[in-house]
Amino acid sequence: RPIRLKDYTPPAFAIDEVNLDIELDPKATKVHSRLSMRRMGDGPLRLDGEKLKLLEVRIDGEKLGANRYSVDGEHLTIFEVPEGDFTLETVTSCAPVENTALTGLYLSSDIYCTQCEAEGFRRITYYLDRPDVMSVFRTRIVADEKKVPVLLSNGNPVASGKLKGGKHFVEWHDPFRKPAYLFALVAGDLAHVEDKFTTMSGREVTLRIFVEKGNEDRCDYAMGALKRAMKWDEEAFGREYDLDIFMIVAVSAFNMGAMENKGLNVFNDKYILALPDTATDADYAAIEAIIAHEYFHNWTGNRITCRDWFQLCLKEGLTVFRDQEFTGDMRSRPVKRISDVRLLRAHQFPEDGGPLAHPVRPDSYIEINNFYTATVYEKGAELCRMIHTMVGPKRFRKGMDLYFERHDGEAATVENFLDALSDGAKIDLTQFKRWYSQSGTPEVLASGRYDAARKTYTLKMSQVCAPTPGQPMKEPYHIPVAVGLVGANGRDMKLQLDGEEKPGATTRVLHLTEREGTWRFRNVTEKPVPSLLRGFTAPVKLNAHLKERDLVFLMRHDSDSFNRWEAAQRYATGLLLSMVEARASGGTARKGTGFGEMIRDLLTAKKIDPDFVAQIIALPSEQTLAQMIGRDVDVDAIHGAREELRASIAAQTKDELLSAYERMKVDGPYRPEAEDAGRRALRNVCLSYLAVAPGKDGAALAAAQFREADNMTDSIAALTVLANIEGPERIAALDAFYKRWQKNHLVMDKWLAIQATSALPGTLDEVKRLTQHPAFTMKNPNKVRALITSFASMNQLHFHDAKGAGYAFVADKVLELDKLNPQVAARLTGAFRSWRQFGPKRRKLMVKELKRIAGTEGLSRDVYEIATKTLA
Ligand code: ARG
Ligand code: ZN
Repeated sequence: RPIRLKDYTPPAFAIDEVNLDIELDPKATKVHSRLSMRRMGDGPLRLDGEKLKLLEVRIDGEKLGANRYSVDGEHLTIFEVPEGDFTLETVTSCAPVENTALTGLYLSSDIYCTQCEAEGFRRITYYLDRPDVMSVFRTRIVADEKKVPVLLSNGNPVASGKLKGGKHFVEWHDPFRKPAYLFALVAGDLAHVEDKFTTMSGREVTLRIFVEKGNEDRCDYAMGALKRAMKWDEEAFGREYDLDIFMIVAVSAFNMGAMENKGLNVFNDKYILALPDTATDADYAAIEAIIAHEYFHNWTGNRITCRDWFQLCLKEGLTVFRDQEFTGDMRSRPVKRISDVRLLRAHQFPEDGGPLAHPVRPDSYIEINNFYTATVYEKGAELCRMIHTMVGPKRFRKGMDLYFERHDGEAATVENFLDALSDGAKIDLTQFKRWYSQSGTPEVLASGRYDAARKTYTLKMSQVCAPTPGQPMKEPYHIPVAVGLVGANGRDMKLQLDGEEKPGATTRVLHLTEREGTWRFRNVTEKPVPSLLRGFTAPVKLNAHLKERDLVFLMRHDSDSFNRWEAAQRYATGLLLSMVEARASGGTARKGTGFGEMIRDLLTAKKIDPDFVAQIIALPSEQTLAQMIGRDVDVDAIHGAREELRASIAAQTKDELLSAYERMKVDGPYRPEAEDAGRRALRNVCLSYLAVAPGKDGAALAAAQFREADNMTDSIAALTVLANIEGPERIAALDAFYKRWQKNHLVMDKWLAIQATSALPGTLDEVKRLTQHPAFTMKNPNKVRALITSFASMNQLHFHDAKGAGYAFVADKVLELDKLNPQVAARLTGAFRSWRQFGPKRRKLMVKELKRIAGTEGLSRDVYEIATKTLA
């Protein structure tokens, strides 16, 4: 039974205050809840509750007999309640130790931990578990003093003390009204590190990061990132922190990356713990970004929350946009943009083009947890970015200020956001709003014509958007397209549109609002090469009909870094697609040496930005190529073609690669900062090319790097190379790595993932063996993602094994996992979503597995929704 946006009705009751008394016990945690309630509208008092044992119900102190309420697996309904204010009390019990779904209250390595978004609070106590019911929480936690010395919840600690029987308690009070999904409780024998931050108005905030004992020395980077994020939000958005204490807890069993509970963020420890020898540069970057993301939620998510779950993008899209901007300021802006677009294309575009396509603001769902998607998050962020592009930073800030001013303390909607932005930034967003309700990725077609006699350049653009589930027709989108014209000397021309008096900026944002539009530039003294969609100003697929030599020109000269990278990717993609086709038809592929020449030039240039060069010289992934081909995809041909091009580039540029490999070596102790990370990134891309260059030097270099590396980035890069070369070196390296790191569960995840993504034959059998390995368990989501999700989503070659063994294996795991953790199982089911891209044989095999999943008795709502929608 789907839930629909159009059925929204305001809650029938308000909860003005919540008082929780929670006595922790692994098998029987007792929750005594006192809710101060008030009727707001019509309808019965029906509270949400799941997996709870109801022990007692009272209204205004009077115990209710069983004839005055009813309970089923999802609700507690009270037949009659007093007219005015009243207090509803319930006593319930739940079993954290049996909670393998990791939603609600659970135990993870002896730590009590909660995850309430989206609908986990109802597994802790009966409640109106919806984001538009906001309340002030007071939480008293009781536990054994020895075993559970640390007791945390939201807000400020207001009381604590000893109780009889070796127990103790701490009471927390959060003065900010919040929905239940932002509630958190963490308790256990935790250690912490502490720091402080002085806000712009001069208030001192205590910062604490809690970890399992022994991990205290691995929090420095996270703490630094938190302080940078706090400062940045003050400067960029004028947002200050509002409690006296801000706490973060790192736990090893967590369904997602992290959670922004008010004043008490809970993190997957993968995004907190880091030391140079255990964390890669990518890990450091992710830690910084996610710490910032969760912190930024304090304003975009917590102070202003969502009216209902259809509005999820209101907090997620906006907060992703904010964390992207933060990273852009902390690190290289162009490189950040490139990696965000890469991510969008790798995850969101396929989602938008497949059976699970949904608008950024969906209009129906079966299980809300299935809608924490790339569309809501990443495309949602692109929508904020487009507004930012159209109005510029100053006006955008005015719009945001107005949004905070109007809606602080409220549960808001996308309309509220757009109204505030349009009033504050002075822009009409009426047509733009379609981006929130229409799914699918629009395609923009562009073509230009130069008139030498008139010195004009005419640019025509048109848009179409293919049908998506439930949406056969689309209205035209409002698409901002940043445009530049590049002269033969490689310089940008000043642009003067028809009707303008003089030439102006070299990059202009054109607004494509109809199905088609034409723009004419005047005083264009020579035939330009157009550089379109600079900075990727809109989440669209652009087809600009550029010739190969224009791409070569742009990849060398475009002043817009993003478009330089884009031109290089397009050039390489064109070559690769022709090679794939040649393999299929037995014909000959187009030969192109342009990419290799560009690499040579870049690597030998006097001044280079290593991080950017690392991005631009990397080939598009096998998944990207499959997406571009779109139907009857032949995974072997793709893998073969890509390896062939890699090898030929390596042969063509071996000397330059070797010398860059030497030059990019970073001296001195490891520093995670972007500058050094960029050098390591470039050096390791060179290594991966060298591994397939003629001669054995590449493998030898990798083996040496693996032995000598003093940091995880270089160690992993070398191990990845070695894991793809058959032979004793491979086995020795994997063994050595295992022996050294077997006690570190986060490093073991990397070890599992490297093996799961290997291109070598026999990988599936190895993955199956690894499911029995002590380093693996189905109970921990990070392990599942490291081994099984990596295999299913990142090993195109072996997941799509021609006989269907990969599909059968993953389907088995989905069903096994669904009994333990439906959320993670549903994510894994997503691996089947692109089944229509493949040839008839593979399609049939994938459909067979999907049907097997969908037809299984007792399936969770989560997996059921994904499996059936994928088949539809
Ligand atoms: N709000 C969290 C974040 O973006 C993620 C919560 C994900 N919840 C879920 N049920 N999948 O930071
Ligand atoms: Zn978020």
